[in-house]
This record gives sequence, structure tokens and C-alpha cells, in this order.
Amino acid sequence: MKNTDTNKDLKRLVGATAAQLVENGMICGIGTGSTVVFLIEELGRRVREEKLEIIGVPTSFQSKILCRANGIKTLDLQECARLDLAIDGADEVDPELNAIKGGGAAHTMEKIVAAMAERFVIIVDDSKLVPKLGTAFPVPVEIIPSALGYLTAKIREWGGESQLRMGARKDGPVITDNGQFVIDLKFKSGTDLRKIDSQLHQLPGVIETGLFFDLAKQVLVGMGNDLTVRTMERQKDSFKH
Ligand code: 5RP
Repeated sequence: MKNTDTNKDLKRLVGATAAQLVENGMICGIGTGSTVVFLIEELGRRVREEKLEIIGVPTSFQSKILCRANGIKTLDLQECARLDLAIDGADEVDPELNAIKGGGAAHTMEKIVAAMAERFVIIVDDSKLVPKLGTAFPVPVEIIPSALGYLTAKIREWGGESQLRMGARKDGPVITDNGQFVIDLKFKSGTDLRKIDSQLHQLPGVIETGLFFDLAKQVLVGMGNDLTVRTMERQKDSFKH
């Protein structure tokens, strides 16, 4: 699905930079993925060495285990109503700060956390910047397994292609942390993904899409040419879930 080994130095740089956004006393949503690993490691260092007092709200078993291993206190998502900040990676980001997420199949919890946060910040290396969403990465959708046949046929009716995500070191499909399936959708270039997103949300069996429209306030980008971090800011405050 995605190569987590690429651009490690940039992921480390942007993850460690984002950890500086977290302040004493904050309850902070913690995303999932190989960039977030570096965020958690730097937060762990700050907790140990700077006595930073924070609570992390992880979006996956991966992040929960890593937070605990790095000495970061955690709360489960269902125990929280709001978050001061949430930081997460992404698979694609467009110039309006919209994103495709879900390469790690954690996008449902990630979207809940993004919606709950006062400020949602995405952290990526510059290979993730695209002029238009769907350029390189398919759109992940978490679904109820029984709806697989129905949803596959619907996507085909809309002119798209749908593929059930298969495990890498497990026989059969990927089972998410919520016990569900993920399908990866591809559409012809020029397809209106906002419209697809709202159509998908009408269908029974769809749990959540990996399309993150109007959620991020900032994107921190690790730039490969000079190993710096560039900040992209949301221009207008549009609708938030
Ligand atoms: C997990 C995600 C990840 O944040 C996204 O796949 C980016 O991961 P990485 O930092 O490993 O490139 O959405 O569901």
C-alpha cells in the first residue's frame, strides 16, 4: 500500500518539529504511521527530559503501544470530548490542505480525532504534496465486511475501481483496529472527490472515507532540497465537522 521506509530523514525532521507544538497540559490527538513514530519519540524525549505533562489520545494500536513505550500517558478516544491539538501524517495533501489518509487503515479514528481538535496539523515529507487529490494514492474507505459486494458494484456504477486491501504478512484481507475491511478506490482523473465523498457517506456499510476535506489548519512539510520544514496555513476558515 505505502512504503514506510522512504524519506525517513524528512519524516524524522517534520515529526520532531511538530512535537514542539505540544505544550504543557495539552490533550493531544496522536495520528498513525511512520512519520508519527518520530513525533511520538520526540514527545517521549520531552516528557522524560523536559518533564512535559501531556495526555496523548492515540488513533491506533500502533500509536497507543508506542506512546506507552515512550512514557506518554494516554486516554482512549471514547473517554474524550475535545482535544487541544491533533497531529497526524497523510498520504496526499493538496494546495488547500485537504488530504487523503488511511494508508495505515486508521483513518476512521484519525478523522474523529481531527474533528475533535481545536487545531489539526498534518505532517508530511514533500513527496506527499499533489496538485489534486487522487493523483497518486487511492481513496481508502473502511467498510463493514458484509457490504463488500454491494459497495464494489456501486463504485463500478460510478465509473471507479475498488480493491479490497489485503494483508502483507497475513493471509486474506486487512482487518482494521475496528474489526472491519478497507477498500481502496480509484477514479478517473478530474473526478469530483468531494462529491464522491458525500455520495459514499449516503451508502449503508460505509464507515468512513480517507478524504479529509476542510479539517487541517496547518501542514508542516519536510522539504528534501534543503532539509527544512515549510508551514502551509489554511487561508480561510471553512466548514468544520
Ligand atoms: C494511517 C495514515 C497515515 O498517517 C498515512 O498513511 C501516512 O503515513 P506515513 O507517515 O507512514 O507515510 O493515514 O491511516
